[in-house]
Amino acid sequence: MEKQRSFSVKPIRFFLVISVTISFSVIFLIFFSTWVIKTSPPLYGGPHNLTVQTFNPTSEYVLKNSILAGRRRFGGDNSSSQIFTEITGNSTSPPFSTDKSSVGDESEDTDVITSAASGGGAEEFHELNNVIVKGGNNNNNTVVGNVKKVDCDMSKGKWIIDESYPLYNNFSCPFIDEGFNCVGNGRFNNDYMNWRWQPQHCQIPRFNATKMLELIRGKRLVFVGDSINRNQWESMLCLLMGGVKDPKKVYEARGRKITKERGTYSFKFEDYRCTVEYYVSHFLVHESKARIGKKRTQSLRIDTIDKGSSRWRGADILVFNTAHWWNHHKTKAGINYYQEGDQVHPKLDATEAFRRSLSTWASWIDKNINPHKTRIFFRSSAPSHFSGGLWNTGGHCKEAFRPINETFTSTDYPEKNLVIEETISKMRNPVTFLNITRLSDYRPDAHPSIYGRKTINPGVQDCSHWCLPGVPDNWNQLLYYYLQSSTKSNFVD
Ligand SMILES: *[C@@H]1O[C@H](CO)[C@@H](O)[C@H](O)[C@H]1NC(C)=O
Ligand SMILES: *[C@@H]1O[C@H](CO)[C@@H](O)[C@H](O)[C@H]1NC(C)=O
Ligand SMILES: *[C@@H]1O[C@H](CO)[C@@H](O)[C@H](O)[C@H]1NC(C)=O
Ligand SMILES: *[C@@H]1O[C@H](CO)[C@@H](O)[C@H](O)[C@H]1NC(C)=O
Ligand SMILES: *[C@@H]1O[C@H](CO)[C@@H](O)[C@H](O)[C@H]1NC(C)=O
Ligand SMILES: *[C@@H]1O[C@H](CO)[C@@H](O)[C@H](O)[C@H]1NC(C)=O
Ligand SMILES: *[C@@H]1O[C@H](CO)[C@@H](O)[C@H](O)[C@H]1NC(C)=O
Ligand SMILES: *[C@@H]1O[C@H](CO)[C@@H](O)[C@H](O)[C@H]1NC(C)=O
Repeated sequence: MEKQRSFSVKPIRFFLVISVTISFSVIFLIFFSTWVIKTSPPLYGGPHNLTVQTFNPTSEYVLKNSILAGRRRFGGDNSSSQIFTEITGNSTSPPFSTDKSSVGDESEDTDVITSAASGGGAEEFHELNNVIVKGGNNNNNTVVGNVKKVDCDMSKGKWIIDESYPLYNNFSCPFIDEGFNCVGNGRFNNDYMNWRWQPQHCQIPRFNATKMLELIRGKRLVFVGDSINRNQWESMLCLLMGGVKDPKKVYEARGRKITKERGTYSFKFEDYRCTVEYYVSHFLVHESKARIGKKRTQSLRIDTIDKGSSRWRGADILVFNTAHWWNHHKTKAGINYYQEGDQVHPKLDATEAFRRSLSTWASWIDKNINPHKTRIFFRSSAPSHFSGGLWNTGGHCKEAFRPINETFTSTDYPEKNLVIEETISKMRNPVTFLNITRLSDYRPDAHPSIYGRKTINPGVQDCSHWCLPGVPDNWNQLLYYYLQSSTKSNFVD
């Protein structure tokens, strides 16, 4: 009966009831949201009580200088002063995300880095971001003193002109080998050296060689990977020379000269009793030989760590990479190449092989490396910039003279990096991911191109490696930043 009556009301009354209900709902909603907005801590958009402190007077000085330099070069471009505005906190919109949970997928990535970088020393890590956000949050769950420290994504930012760069040259650094010595090989357009990576929301402290040498006093800093890691290792040697009083007290332990042919070097810095070493390992896993039928053929043992690993073991800082050799050409297109146990896979996808190899590497690290002694880094892949062909089919980059506009993203984030991130996130040991792919992607101008050799061969260009001084110095600056951040927790002497 009830049901029937409600259906038999006249249309006009029915309409009235509906409108009154809707009106009340709207009024209630308005009151409710006003109340919520008033009582909640401010979200994005409104003016914020942002105090940002810069702990490193030197880097601030440098930043100011570089902005002046930037203005001078670019005339009307005020974008670099925008960076300064943001870091001095005189901004109406918050440059930082204060709510990690709202970042979605990205927050997971950040967590990887945070936990990795901190290794129990989250405080130092955050402090090094030089960023403190005060107020705006009355909840006492945050860090002591109502101060909430904010992570900073180093991989987002831009290249800015900084006349105080480069940090060394081909005279002050005797270790730049022919392949990276662009100036020595005759490159005269050298603007590419004057750029510095500036993260969007924070500062990287200027590389202080003395401080870095102090950090690694009595220790082994070891780079393991392909020739791009040799590139970075050489950059590190050169950067460190800036803190050395007597260059004669820096030498290769066995008197070796750096050449492309050799893959093992250990440079001693006598005054600091430390070594800066490089071990070539193209895949991080074992390059082997397998018998297929009657033939012995090259294979890659994706289930076995590189035989050179015994030399990595005692290191205090390890910097890994692998990427460039995982191409069709070098891995025989995955046909009869990847081996596990006695089995050589007739065909295996490179990404899958890469994943299994990294997992082999990760197990080795977790089993053999003591996280209380050793700090581990993995550098993301460095992009190549061949246009009009591949490295062996006339690809070139000689005509690039400037970084490309940071709003223009040419390539997708490589799948290999996703595999690396995924692998690291599952490891027991903390690993810091040096996320240099995107920032390097903006720099087609910084490759040796035709200046990778003393005798210029215009037909062959190197658009994979990097001139020194140059982009790898900025990678090392990131490394320096992360190392400084957890000195106390990871280097208990
Ligand atoms: C900003 O913070 C300072 C110190 O933390 C405080 O004295 C001031 O009242 C705050 N201002 C606003 C608008 O919240
Ligand atoms: C850049 O800033 C200067 C003052 O610092 C101002 O005079 C100039 O108009 C600005 N240029 C642009 C394009 O905003
Ligand atoms: C922030 O900017 C306003 C105007 O844009 C200026 O009056 C004020 O002095 C600035 N404050 C600081 C701390 O730079
Ligand atoms: C690394 O940087 C790329 C590009 O900026 C980004 O897409 C990716 O999420 C970053 N990875 C991590 C772990 O931060
Ligand atoms: C936060 O904690 C301090 C001291 O523990 C206390 O005095 C203050 O009232 C608390 N603030 C809030 C908003 O709970
Ligand atoms: C350094 O570069 C200059 C060109 O600027 C070149 O003449 C010189 O030979 C180079 N020195 C070394 C040691 O490569
Ligand atoms: C570099 O670090 C050393 C040792 O910490 C310090 O004495 C020196 O002033 C620093 N140099 C610069 C330019 O900041
Ligand atoms: C970069 O590209 C954006 C969008 O195309 C443009 O607005 C900006 O002026 C460019 N900046 C430079 C420095 O070329």
